[in-house]
Amino acid sequence: MQIIKINATHPEPLKIRIAANVIRSGGLVAFPTETVYGLGAAVLDAAAVREIFKVKKRPFTDPLIVHIAAKQDYFSLADETSKLAERFMERFWPGPLTLIAKKSSIVPEIVTAGLNTVAIRMPAHKIALSLIKTVGMPVAAPSANLFGRPSPTTAQHVSDDFADKLELIIDGGRTTIGVESTVLDLTAIPPQILRPGGITREEIEETIGGKVTLFSAQKHGNLSGKTSVPSPGMMNTHYAPRAKLIFVEGDCTSVVRKVQKLADSFGQQGKKVVIMAMDESISNYNGFSVRSFGKRDDPKSCAYNLFSVLRSIDKEETDIIIAEPVVSDGLGLAVVDRLRKAATAIF
Ligand code: TXA
Ligand code: MG
Repeated sequence: MQIIKINATHPEPLKIRIAANVIRSGGLVAFPTETVYGLGAAVLDAAAVREIFKVKKRPFTDPLIVHIAAKQDYFSLADETSKLAERFMERFWPGPLTLIAKKSSIVPEIVTAGLNTVAIRMPAHKIALSLIKTVGMPVAAPSANLFGRPSPTTAQHVSDDFADKLELIIDGGRTTIGVESTVLDLTAIPPQILRPGGITREEIEETIGGKVTLFSAQKHGNLSGKTSVPSPGMMNTHYAPRAKLIFVEGDCTSVVRKVQKLADSFGQQGKKVVIMAMDESISNYNGFSVRSFGKRDDPKSCAYNLFSVLRSIDKEETDIIIAEPVVSDGLGLAVVDRLRKAATAIF
């Protein structure tokens, strides 16, 4: 396996060409986007796309996002368009928004897991854009982590998950958003957020000029493997560290009390416990092992740190992680969603 460093703001064309050639000849390349790292293959190369599922250990029922470098590529991947879709592209692309549309016949079935819709996104990262452009066709890419693990926000996270199983990893530094794109289903009436992410619910509602619904995995029971659900990837346990994660919800004072009680009781059982807390709250946990993952009134900071903190606590052979909640507006909605899905218990 090779890791090449590429400048995130001025990608070196020669290095991009090396990576693009790997994809053009049927290989896989991990590359940075503004959200998390992706693991890419040429969209029309069904064999290479199959390999993505295999190395990630991802079920074939969980479709991939097709990444494009020019807005007009949307129109060859999607079977129909709408004024609304165009408004979203205009406003948020390139950027952390994935649009679900009816698929055109050129998109191989393996990419969309047999669904008649396709997920499309134009990322806002210079390396991603110039890689896709140089490949000469859209790139199908899920997040570059083993299935079910926290998403990767650095090249090191990618190599931690895959060791030498990948031909090439592009190291373009740490990703700036830290959680994945928002997945917005425009085939649903009214449009539905299948996964909250880098573009906020507030921004989406402002664009629609009305309310949007939020898909809830909880309401749909155990979704694994069923193709009848809007988004087969939205299963209950996801983004999970190896340690058991306990997510505590509620107002500030009750959260602190619950976290202290849980940490005490697991500590007495001889478990190694780490608390993930807000900066402002760390002093409440004297005597416990605590890690900050952001500021209470700045959900962006929590999104930026979430996956890297989960991964680094895991490296310390922790048994139990107890996480405080963040505010659920703006990017906080995505952070809460990931913590809920990573949790083995919610208090
Ligand atoms: O920010 C991101 O979106 C990152 C970067 C690499 O672009 N990608 C990413 O991909 O998070 P992935 O595969 O980890 O998550 C894609 C999600 C999955 O939950 C999948 O089920 C859903 O999008 N999805 C893909 N195609 C779909 C479709 N046709 N209908 C509904 N959901 C779909
Ligand atoms: Mg993923």
